[in-house]
Amino acid sequence: MEVYLAGLRGRKPRVPVDFPRLEDAARRKLPRRAFAYVAGGAGMERTMAANLAAFERRRIVPRMLRDVSTRDLSVELFGRRLSSPFLLAPVGALELVHRDADAAVARAAAAAGVPMILSSQASRPMEECAGLLGQAARWFQLYWSTLDDVAASFVRRAQACGCEAIVVTLDTTLLGWRCRDLDLAHLPFAYAQGLAQYTSDPAFTAALRPAPLPRSGRPTLAAIRWLLRVKRGYPGGLRANLRSELPFASVRQFLETYSRPSLTWGHLAWLRGLTQLPIVLKGILHPDDARLAVEHGVDGIVVSNHGGRQVDGALGSLDALPGVVEAVGGRIPVLLDSGIRTGADAFKALALGATAVLVGRPYVYGLGLAGEEGVREVIDNLVAEFDLTLGLSGCAATAEIGPECLQSVP
Ligand code: GLV
Repeated sequence: MEVYLAGLRGRKPRVPVDFPRLEDAARRKLPRRAFAYVAGGAGMERTMAANLAAFERRRIVPRMLRDVSTRDLSVELFGRRLSSPFLLAPVGALELVHRDADAAVARAAAAAGVPMILSSQASRPMEECAGLLGQAARWFQLYWSTLDDVAASFVRRAQACGCEAIVVTLDTTLLGWRCRDLDLAHLPFAYAQGLAQYTSDPAFTAALRPAPLPRSGRPTLAAIRWLLRVKRGYPGGLRANLRSELPFASVRQFLETYSRPSLTWGHLAWLRGLTQLPIVLKGILHPDDARLAVEHGVDGIVVSNHGGRQVDGALGSLDALPGVVEAVGGRIPVLLDSGIRTGADAFKALALGATAVLVGRPYVYGLGLAGEEGVREVIDNLVAEFDLTLGLSGCAATAEIGPECLQSVP
């Protein structure tokens, strides 16, 4: 109604409401490299397609005459009642799409009252976003560095920022085979984009060793531009960093240490020793891994294939959800990430047993198109469509959504 009433005064939405047109508008507006990084997936992007196909194969079966005049969209997670089942997924290097990056997202999350999962690869330090989030919940997504001190420092900082959970991303201990980025020979982190948590971290900067630039032949214009960008991106700005070797050293150290492919279940005890916050594992797809997570005392699971960005040909995230939910048997909450494009998608995920869902690309496109307002509109649209879908399907509360609300089609 708000949208239609604003229309009477000649005001149209700032960003397209429907996802394909939202993505298309972002493609037309954003620099090529930025769009490729956000939109792209692994290999032939078959996992991205599988994510969407999994939603396609489930259809909602609405029920009638059930008084849905008032509806409760809230869900409970780790002792906090959230006004809707949406959380903003952690997304790195947001400065690619908008100057205000994570700060704009934090303001929008605060205004909408939706939790934000702060990314290890953010473009703004977590403390800055925490200051903008007001009463909104915030969680911290951890990329488990090979430098223990850095991982521990991130967790300490997240606690001090009021984060209510630590989300460990498990599926990106190596960066996937991303054809769109490879074709452009472009990785944002190599340009010092998305390194704000690291360059603001005392443990990370204490470990920096000044490193001379790699020299291979005559410098090209692109190499000079890259160098200036790296120096401009490091705290203090270009002028202060002209003679410093630390900006380049920070990129190198990040690339060498940001993630730990040697991680095993045994490492979780170390993290548990650091924090009492709920530990949530993101990237679980197999029921046996879900069982192991419960056995290792983990507090929550995010079923995710990283938006199809990691393994080409992996199963759709929604297809993995029922097996994980069954394995967990209600002992800890299960969230769904990867493929949520609409409010109706969230309804389907909840029907299959998810407590809540993570949204990624949609809000990033909103950010790219219209900054904070764009993110806000995307969130509001998702929540509104979820509300309508709930009511029109004959449910007055999220708790009433169950497997009987869905039918599978071949
Ligand atoms: C990092 O998390 C990425 O998907 O690029």
